[in-house]
Amino acid sequence: MKFKILHIVGARPQFVKLYPLHKELCVKGIYQKILHTGQHFDEKMSGIFFKQLGIPTPDYNLDIHSLPHGAMTGRMIEEIEKILVEIKPTHVIVYGDTNSTLAGTIAASKISDIEIVHIEAGVRNYDNTMPEEINRIVTDRLSHKLLCCTDKCVQNLKSEGLSNAVNTGDLMYDSMLLFRDKLEIDNKSKPYVLVTCHRASNTSAEVLREIVEALNIISTDHMDVIFPIHPRTRKIIDLLDIEIKFKLVEPVSYFDMLTLLANCEYVLTDSGGVVREAYFFNKLSLLLLKSPLWPELVEANVCINTDVTKNCIVDNFNKLLENKIYFKEGLLGDGNSRTHIVNNILC
Ligand code: UD1
Repeated sequence: MKFKILHIVGARPQFVKLYPLHKELCVKGIYQKILHTGQHFDEKMSGIFFKQLGIPTPDYNLDIHSLPHGAMTGRMIEEIEKILVEIKPTHVIVYGDTNSTLAGTIAASKISDIEIVHIEAGVRNYDNTMPEEINRIVTDRLSHKLLCCTDKCVQNLKSEGLSNAVNTGDLMYDSMLLFRDKLEIDNKSKPYVLVTCHRASNTSAEVLREIVEALNIISTDHMDVIFPIHPRTRKIIDLLDIEIKFKLVEPVSYFDMLTLLANCEYVLTDSGGVVREAYFFNKLSLLLLKSPLWPELVEANVCINTDVTKNCIVDNFNKLLENKIYFKEGLLGDGNSRTHIVNNILC
């Protein structure tokens, strides 16, 4: 068999990226298997994505989660290695910047004749205190094919001496386009700001208190705040003795998230995925991180970065309200990333 592909996924955003690529490889009749590390494990964070997106049940599920970074990554490497030895894939595809990405890459790099394909390569925000930044750097260094969402990501890798990078666009754009026509547009409800927040740096009690206080100010009689809350954030918020004047809801499915994005006024997030999805729906976003993850969006004036203090969040949100801009298309590819990626892998 010329191509034997193993996708390694584990967290919510990776299921969204796996969906269009898996579909396209199916069309081409390529042999592929799915390994789920178990990093995101419950129905709301994992199961529902497979059901809604029609992705087959993973061939392997390691059920490794809720551990510190080192222990989680270490256990994953050990278990992934066993599966790689058993099935001998020609290609391992890893996505993004999670601990599952890192574990898959390290395990595959120790076995000869496996080509490692990194989807969403070259993202940098030059902050080594973020676990995701470490995962990105190591994954890029060890991967054979570096497939980037933008030219800037290609440049980032070139400046690190990695010349095997190409821009194949953003698979998240493909996924959104494949679902867009099924979304219900609601013009009648009260306007709202859609919020997500889960980064380690934003989920200490001190920082989360600042975020909640800012959201209490942003939520008014004229503007709701809707916050589907990540389990990590929920655990900490439940411990804060603080009044919450906005809508905290359980994590939502992919389809419900797209519907919320389509109907919101603004997006406030610390997610590199949600900030791109905001752009796909022509929504201005405030990124709860000091340094930009997607400078292309900041330069195009559709996203503002903010320090994560109450005053900075509110001030920058007010700047966003004044921002009347034209959304330039194509900053994250042409919506046909799956074809570009498959062509690159099969060539
Ligand atoms: C991870 C990724 C991040 C990605 C994000 C998407 C790393 C280092 N970070 O962060 O890049 O943007 O996923 O969501 O890999 N939990 C549950 N139920 C679940 C899943 C998780 O309760 O279904 C809990 C875990 O037990 C843990 C917390 O949520 O206490 C955080 O999970 P973790 O695996 O660290 O990943 P994320 O913070 O989601």
